[in-house]
Amino acid sequence: MSAPDDRLLSTDAYRKIEGECAKYPADRREAAIMAALRIAQEEKRWLSREMIEHVAGVIGVPAIRAHEVASFYNMYDLQPVGRRKISLCTNVPCALMGATSAAAAFKEKLGIEFGQTTSDGKYTLVEGECFGACKECPVVIVDNVKMHSRITVERIDEFLAGIDPDR
Ligand code: FES
Repeated sequence: MSAPDDRLLSTDAYRKIEGECAKYPADRREAAIMAALRIAQEEKRWLSREMIEHVAGVIGVPAIRAHEVASFYNMYDLQPVGRRKISLCTNVPCALMGATSAAAAFKEKLGIEFGQTTSDGKYTLVEGECFGACKECPVVIVDNVKMHSRITVERIDEFLAGIDPDR
């Protein structure tokens, strides 16, 4: 399927989406929906309702299927986020290894609560569920993809400096 006339994404994004669809039989394009949503999010930083439905149209599936996927996985951002999204796992193993204290320190240093973005638009802090890396507790994932291990209170300043989008 070629890019639709009402283009919301770049030519490169449509090319990448078609590349994902090409990995599956023509009658199984729906299998590429997760990758297609990721590609759209990487370009726009978040997925608006309009964008989710647009991606569904590009893939050729009902809009509800794309909404189901986008709303199920927390790697999809359904609201605008800061230039760095910090997801801190607060499940029990991470909590036992310092995530609760780290959460309090993040909130204090950034001046925001979970689910909020700093006023300068640099950071969004969210509470994460187990990332499957419990031996590395406490675990943080930045921008949905980059995992950071053992982010204790003592390491937060160094961590924030390392992910500063302005550095
Ligand atoms: Fe935090 Fe598993 S409990 S990564």
